[in-house]
Parts: sequence; C-alpha cells; structure tokens
Amino acid sequence: MSEVCNFNAGPAMLPRAVLERVQSELIDYHGKGMSIMEMSHRSKEYEAVNANAEATFKRLLGIDKDYRVLFVQGGASTQFAMVPMNFLPVGATADYLITGLWAEKAFEEAALLGKPTQAASTKEGGYRRMPTNQELRLTPHAAFVHYTTNETVQGTQFHAIPEVGDRPLVADMSSDIFSRPIDASKFSLIYAGAQKNLGPSGVTVVLLRESWLEKANKGVPTMLRYATHVKNNSLYNTPPSFGVYVLSLVLEWIEKAGGLPAMAERNNAKAKTIYDAIDGSGGYYRGHAEPGARSIMNITFRLPSEELEKKFVAEAQAVKMVGLAGHRSVGGLRASIYNAIPLEACQTLVSFMKDFAQRNG
Ligand SMILES: Cc1ncc(COP(=O)(O)O)c(C=O)c1O
Repeated sequence: MSEVCNFNAGPAMLPRAVLERVQSELIDYHGKGMSIMEMSHRSKEYEAVNANAEATFKRLLGIDKDYRVLFVQGGASTQFAMVPMNFLPVGATADYLITGLWAEKAFEEAALLGKPTQAASTKEGGYRRMPTNQELRLTPHAAFVHYTTNETVQGTQFHAIPEVGDRPLVADMSSDIFSRPIDASKFSLIYAGAQKNLGPSGVTVVLLRESWLEKANKGVPTMLRYATHVKNNSLYNTPPSFGVYVLSLVLEWIEKAGGLPAMAERNNAKAKTIYDAIDGSGGYYRGHAEPGARSIMNITFRLPSEELEKKFVAEAQAVKMVGLAGHRSVGGLRASIYNAIPLEACQTLVSFMKDFAQRNG
C-alpha cells in the first residue's frame, strides 16, 4: 500500500485502525451476512449503532441528561440556516462573531431569514485573530450568539469560550470538535460536519440542549425542525447510516486513545512542531494567524512568492505529502492536522520545509 501524509482539510484522514475495522466488518456485519450499508435503519443492529454513537459522544463530553445528540444530513452549511430557522424569532436579532469565511457564511444565511447583528468582526487586517471579550458588542436580548470555534480557511481558533452572559451560545465546531476538551454545558447548540475529526462526509452532528427546544419557532418544515430529529432519535427518515457507523468507530477510537485530553496533548505537540518551523525560518515562512489565535488544526502560512508556493505544493506532492494548498479564496499553504494525523507526518513536513527553504532561499 502506498503511504501518504494526508493534510487534506476535509474530507480528511481517518484513523487507520478505524478503516481496518470497517474493512473487516464490511461484507459480513456481526455475522448477519450483509454489510451495515445494506441493513434497514429500523433494524436492531443499526439502532445499536445509532445509540452507541450518541452515548459515546456524550461520554466524551462528560454530559448526559439535558442534551441530545443528533445525526443529520446537509452538512454544516445546512445548519447555518437551521439554527436561525428554529431559534431566531421574527422581530428579534441574534449576534454573530465574524471571524473568517465560515462565520461570514453563517451570518449571510441568517440574514436571508431575519436580521442578525455583527457583534464583532476581525475582517480588518484580514482575519488574523479572534475578538477579545472586551470587543464584543452584544445585543441585550439576542436570541443567541453564534461563533465559529476554528476558522478552517484562515487557520485561526478561539482558545477560550467567549463570554456572552445568559444569552444562548451556538457554535460551529466543524473543524475542531473533539480536538481538545470543551465545556459543553456553556452551549445551547453545537454543530459540526463530520468530515474532519469525526468520520466521513455526509453526517452532521448536532448537540442540542433539550430545554432550549421549547423556545423554537413553530412552522419550520419537518426535516429542518430540530424537534423532528429529537423526537425520532435521528431516525425520522433514512439516516446516513454508513457514515454514522464509521463515526461511532472514530468516537470509540478517541475514547480508547484517552479521550479529549489525550487528543489535545497530541494536537498541541503536532501544531507546535510546525509553528516552531515557521517561527525558526528567519521569515521565509510567514504564518497567517497572530500567535494568540493560531489554530492547532489548520496551519496557514505563506512563502516569499506565489511561484514558490506552487513549487512547494508540487514538490511535496511528489514525495507523498498531499492537501497542502491553501483554500482557493486565500491562497498560500495550509496543513490540516486533524486528530487522525500522527506526529510523524508533521515531522516529515517540517523536514521538507527546512530542506525546501534551504534549496530555494
Ligand atoms: C468551520 C466550517 N464550517 C462549515 C463548513 C461547511 O461544512 P459542510 O461542507 O459540511 O457544509 C466547513 C467546511 O469546511 C467548515 O470548515
């Protein structure tokens, strides 16, 4: 098998142990003579997968009673609309922290449905940092405050939960969920596309404080109503069953590896390896994010010229390091180092960076 260092931003690398388990169970799931993909979502086998995924998700966060975990479709992009559809009442506003491409998209979607407020923006200066608590201009009775914990494109990350008083807090955690411990009790709703830290594309996870549902708007179409999925245990219609199955295995893998504290320790060490190489390059590599807002998941940096950036990506690819081109909207380089990426892949990248700078300095 050809081994690559996979720095894709999502869909992204999955743990090898999970892929091997999927492979071993693919054709004959638990002696049933068929794969999980071919079974009814009403079968007791799939119901067990669904229940196990929810239970493991909650155990990893250390929460239980007040919250529900939902597995839905449509990606995080559909959540951009579902959140305001359900929780932005007519005539009210919700506060959005504008920190990069994904926060902008969430805000734009809310603006199609109501009148959200930009309670902070770090656009000036090119989204290199996250706003401080002092900068937040929160609306007194905001229906909720929405923020993006990790901006996948810009490579910036909040390192503390914003202080929003008693306003319900909603977070898009698509690109850093389960990369570190998080106090879930501070949130009314968290959502994340699975395809970075949790599993394959096609599944979106929503963590929802059940009591908040009482405030939800009425008259939302059935599939876009959180209450539908809560009431039916994510089984209202045919779920993305294979994706939920793989996701449940990834969650078990995280738990076995020591849970979220262990993920944070690994991820911090991985990120430090690459940031140290950037900082030690005498200015050859320039990080995009300000040091206090550096992401431990997506490391964005520039080279002295766009020609050199193209050359870097091509040469890296030739030695089996893939996915290093920055997002098409910003250019530059980006190394996405989600949970499944081993430290060794980061060390390989660093050796390459040093060698490239020497040859092209
Ligand atoms: C932070 C963040 N939010 C939302 C999205 C959109 O997710 P999806 O493609 O699942 O709609 C992405 C995708 O990369 C993302 O990184």
